[in-house]
Amino acid sequence: MKPVEIAKGIYDVGVIDWTIRDFHGYSTHMGTSYNAFLVVGEKIVLIDTVKKNFADQLLRNIARIVDPAKIDVVISNHTEMDHSGALPYIMGKVGKEKPVYCSSMGQKNLSRHFSETFNFQAIKEGEDLVLGDKTFSFIETRMLHWPDSMFTYLKEDKILFSSDAFGQHYAGHEQFDDVVGEKIMSHAKKYFANILLLYAPLILKLIDKVVGMGLEINMLCPDHGVLWRNPSTIIDAYARWSRQEDLENKAVVVYDTMWHSTELMALAIADGLHLEGVDVRPMKLREYDRSDIMTEICDAKAVVVGSPTLNNGIFPTVADFLTYMKGLKPQNKIAAAFGSFGWSGESVKILEQELADMKFDLITPGLKHQYVPDDDALEKCVAFGRQIAAVIKETRR
Ligand code: FEO
Repeated sequence: MKPVEIAKGIYDVGVIDWTIRDFHGYSTHMGTSYNAFLVVGEKIVLIDTVKKNFADQLLRNIARIVDPAKIDVVISNHTEMDHSGALPYIMGKVGKEKPVYCSSMGQKNLSRHFSETFNFQAIKEGEDLVLGDKTFSFIETRMLHWPDSMFTYLKEDKILFSSDAFGQHYAGHEQFDDVVGEKIMSHAKKYFANILLLYAPLILKLIDKVVGMGLEINMLCPDHGVLWRNPSTIIDAYARWSRQEDLENKAVVVYDTMWHSTELMALAIADGLHLEGVDVRPMKLREYDRSDIMTEICDAKAVVVGSPTLNNGIFPTVADFLTYMKGLKPQNKIAAAFGSFGWSGESVKILEQELADMKFDLITPGLKHQYVPDDDALEKCVAFGRQIAAVIKETRR
């Protein structure tokens, strides 16, 4: 239920999307929220909007606090349509002449999203925007995760509005991290693994920059999920996930199968890993969403990929997953490939090439088996799992 007063005179007027289950290909089992913030001081400021189809709900939430026409200024931290889709509708109520502050890239990108233009004002990092008794400053966060992305810092209240960064796709009435408790971290990790992982080097630089600025942060407010009253919890986790070091002795066995032969191999390899004390997650494509698999891979040392040979190639779901994983650029992984085949048997070679292209440390040769694996073949799979486990355990990464 929103709006919620999150600090004196500052409200989350966003909306909860309880029913979304697919967020541009990311499985949102728990729904999500689109947070937007209203700062009511001597001037009234709206930070971000919501998805277009929730525009009415946003307007109602604002109207419970103030007449929307009294909003003086809108700040847009990010152009992506889950945060800007309602902007035209809201500006129609706020007043189209009112300024919309954004980054210079935001000015370009917002203009390209709507058929009408608004009073977009580019604001530079380091500039203070003094609005009555409140002072806003801005941090450009280009490519975290769009070119236009920026953070807004409210100096008097020490609140950092961080757009997508530090968010989670989590729908709930709980407004703050300390209310949800530890379980929120799995949602935050999934968000990081599927939206931000490829920008890990930029995140490390950004964290250094924010620390270097000596910014005091009482509350960290992302545009999705709960707000962080303990900002160091999530900032430290982002630093850890971004470094991609101190990974767990864990392997994810990702596979698909036609007539269960590759599946038998996958499960026997998983047994071998388990017998050597490695935490192993066999994850069959078509049963697990790719975004859940990436979340498991985020802190695993090893990725073991299996595919049958189909039409001289790999199985389509495996190709889909490899394309997805490649785009997210996980680093510092051990990898291995396996698969069953009928006559031509190209899949393992193709998988190895894909994994090598991702700069993973490959354990070769991969394991292939013609037709249905018998007991001897399954013993070889167990041994392959043990071999992978030995590399996992001897390597610090
Ligand atoms: Fe939540 Fe990049 O949008």
